[in-house]
Amino acid sequence: MTDEVTNISARKDEHLQICLEEDVSSGVSAGFDQVLLQIATLPELNFESIDLSANIFGKRLDAPILISSMTGGSGKTKMFNQILARAANEFNIAMGVGSQRAALVHEGLDETFAIARKEAPNALLFANIGVAQLNEGFGVVECQRAVDMLEADALFIHLNALQEALQPEGNRDFSHLLKKIEAITAGLQVPVVAKEVGCGIDPKTASLLVEAGVAGIDVAGVGGTSWAAVEMYRQSDPVRKELCETYIGWGIPTARALIGLEGLPNNILRISSGGLSNGLDVAKSIAMGADLAGFALKLMIAANQGYETLKTTLELIILELKVAMFLSSAPDLNSLRTKLVQEE
Ligand SMILES: Cc1cc2nc3c(=O)[nH]c(=O)nc-3n(C[C@H](O)[C@H](O)[C@H](O)COP(=O)(O)O)c2cc1C
Repeated sequence: MTDEVTNISARKDEHLQICLEEDVSSGVSAGFDQVLLQIATLPELNFESIDLSANIFGKRLDAPILISSMTGGSGKTKMFNQILARAANEFNIAMGVGSQRAALVHEGLDETFAIARKEAPNALLFANIGVAQLNEGFGVVECQRAVDMLEADALFIHLNALQEALQPEGNRDFSHLLKKIEAITAGLQVPVVAKEVGCGIDPKTASLLVEAGVAGIDVAGVGGTSWAAVEMYRQSDPVRKELCETYIGWGIPTARALIGLEGLPNNILRISSGGLSNGLDVAKSIAMGADLAGFALKLMIAANQGYETLKTTLELIILELKVAMFLSSAPDLNSLRTKLVQEE
């Protein structure tokens, strides 16, 4: 393996280890405590008949839940992709793999991502590359390879300006990227969805991305995992540590970022993620217009304890969502979209 690939894989393993061992939370509220669902004291509904199904990019999901992009690219992370994909398959929910950059620059790593499709033959799967790689020579060919690697239904391009700014080895050339995103959306055989990694996507950028042809936005707002916190634990230099610390709570809280998507065309996929705690946050996200709701670190922590813990965690999230729908008298997700208490 080249030094570059070894470094990318080692960095991904280090990130994962820090996320599992340290407190990497942003310390900021994702904003769902301010969001209220309408309450129907007498729901006039049979709990058992509540329908959580969603149709996304031509696939029917049993619940509007996404296992957010996290891993791949090393032996250990292959095992995590396997267990997460097994859950995606069993629950018939969506899943994203982590950045495929290492596999795109080295031949031996495809399997650490492809395992997701093997475990989840029918699930809605998202491939993943970083936007900064578009300024390192990645184009349509590399993005299509990432998609083909796991027969993905769509591609996430992650926007991580803060993370690249804080990493000593980060790629900080974020110039002329919209045009390059446009070339990818025009040339790729599957839809492209832009996501952040925990700082949120602002309304203006969201509309520019839609103009550039993206089919969806995953706001991935602040409120959960903070990449500034993760990077802080990696630094030994006190000045760099302090730089990271300054930005731990940086970003747009997830609930506010979702509101910022209101002006986008209706056919644009909206994903709520970043600091979602439970199925009630999923219900609130859907009521605010989201099509899918994503969880990253919460599910990784569960997966790290074994498949049964991951399964119990997902069962609880789904049950919490269903109870919220029952209590606001929403028989399905479309109905839930009418149950937001609007500000006076
Ligand atoms: C261990 C770990 C690895 C991650 N790796 C990636 C990645 O490779 N690509 C990506 O788009 N996002 C990545 N993320 C970001 C998540 O997809 C998500 O946007 C973010 O963690 C916020 O969600 P959370 O608060 O539920 O953790 C990663 C998150 C974690 C916890």
